[in-house]
Amino acid sequence: MVQYLIPFESRGTINIDERLIEFLILDDNLSCQIDSKRSLVYVLFTFLKQREILVIFELDPAVFHNTLTTNVFGPLLLAQACIPLMKANGYGRIVNMASTLGSLNDISNPDSPYGAVLSPAYRLSKTLLNGITVLLANALRGTNILVNSACPGWVRTDMGGGKAPLTPEQGADTPVWLATLPDGGPTDGFFRERQPILW
Ligand SMILES: NC(=O)c1ccc[n+]([C@@H]2O[C@H](COP(=O)([O-])OP(=O)(O)OC[C@H]3O[C@@H](n4cnc5c(N)ncnc54)[C@H](OP(=O)(O)O)[C@@H]3O)[C@@H](O)[C@H]2O)c1
Repeated sequence: MVQYLIPFESRGTINIDERLIEFLILDDNLSCQIDSKRSLVYVLFTFLKQREILVIFELDPAVFHNTLTTNVFGPLLLAQACIPLMKANGYGRIVNMASTLGSLNDISNPDSPYGAVLSPAYRLSKTLLNGITVLLANALRGTNILVNSACPGWVRTDMGGGKAPLTPEQGADTPVWLATLPDGGPTDGFFRERQPILW
C-alpha cells in the first residue's frame, strides 16, 4: 500500500492510503482539478478539510458538536415532538436516516470496503442515531409505532457526489418502504435495500 503524507494545518500530518485517493478521485468535483502531483496534494488538503475526512484524534470538537446537533439531536427532538400525537392515533412510523458508515459492525471490520472513509463525526453521529432507533423502538413496543433505521446506499446527491451508483429515487426506496410499513411490520431494525443489516 502506498502511503501519502499530506500536511494538515500546523498540527502534523495525516496518512492517506490508496483506497482513500481512489475514493476521492471518484468525486466529480475533484476529477477536473487533478492535473499534477502538486494540485493533487492541494485538492486533497482542501477536500479533507471540507469533508471532515480525518482520523479521530484530529477531530475538532466544534465540528463534532455541530454534526451531532444536526444528525442526532435534530431527529431525537423531532421524534419526541411527534410521538405524543402518534400515541394518540395508535399509529406511527419513524425512520432514522442512518448510514452503513455508522454501523459498528462495519467500523470494527478491518476488511470493510468503507475502511478508508475517515469521517469520525459523521460516522459516530450515525452510530448514535442507530442507538436512538433501538431505544425508541424498545420504549414504543406494542404501540403500533414502528421505529427503524435506513441506509439509502451510495446515492447521487450533493453529499454522495455524481459518481454514486444510485439515483435519489433508488436511495429513497428503503426509507419510504419503512415509512409505509403495514401494522405488525418490523421495528428495531437497520435496513438497506429492504434487507436487515447489522448495527
Ligand atoms: N448520499 C448518500 O450516499 C448517503 C449515504 C448514506 C446515508 N445518507 C444519509 O441520507 C440523508 C440525506 O442525505 P443526502 O445524500 O440527500 O444529502 P444532501 O444532498 O447533502 O442533503 C442534505 C440535506 O440536509 C439538509 N440539512 C443539512 N444540515 C441541516 C440542518 N442543520 N438543518 C436542517 N437541514 C439540514 C440540507 O439542507 P440545505 O440544502 O438547505 O443545505 C439538505 O437538504 C442524510 O442523513 C445522509 O447522512 C446519504
